[in-house]
Amino acid sequence: MKETVLDDYAFLVSETDAKGVITFANDDFCKIAGYTLDELIGQPHNLVRHTDMPKAAFKSLWDTVQKGDIWTGYVKNATKDGGYYWVYATVYPFDTCDGGKGYLSCRRKPSIEEVEEHEALYKEWKKAE
Ligand SMILES: Cc1cc2nc3c(=O)[nH]c(=O)nc-3n(C[C@H](O)[C@H](O)[C@H](O)COP(=O)(O)O)c2cc1C
Repeated sequence: MKETVLDDYAFLVSETDAKGVITFANDDFCKIAGYTLDELIGQPHNLVRHTDMPKAAFKSLWDTVQKGDIWTGYVKNATKDGGYYWVYATVYPFDTCDGGKGYLSCRRKPSIEEVEEHEALYKEWKKAE
């Protein structure tokens, strides 16, 4: 499977509602993931989930943001054409104008060392599932 390595200035942004349904994605996110904005809006964010990602990573993400805290972590995502890319993500909770909850993820390129470390770590976590 083909890896897409982000360029140094790439900044991939997406936003979800309280249930993790995509409500916004910027151009960088669409381009790297291989979807149009129309294809993403209204889809659950696990649309881009890669099968190598352990459940515990997303449990930590959701537990953190639902408490109102900011989550940071490394994520391997799938592209529409079956490839993958790694990001370092920061996920923020926020209050929407209509009184609900929303979540925003901003992602940048991780270093090669960080990717290698998390590739190995997540392999161990997957074994334990
Ligand atoms: C703002 C936000 C951004 C997210 N971004 C991703 C992402 O890029 N890739 C991903 O696999 N999951 C992402 N998630 C987590 C998914 O909602 C989901 O929990 C995860 O893909 C695992 O799927 P599952 O919950 O169906 O097991 C994000 C969640 C939020 C709130």
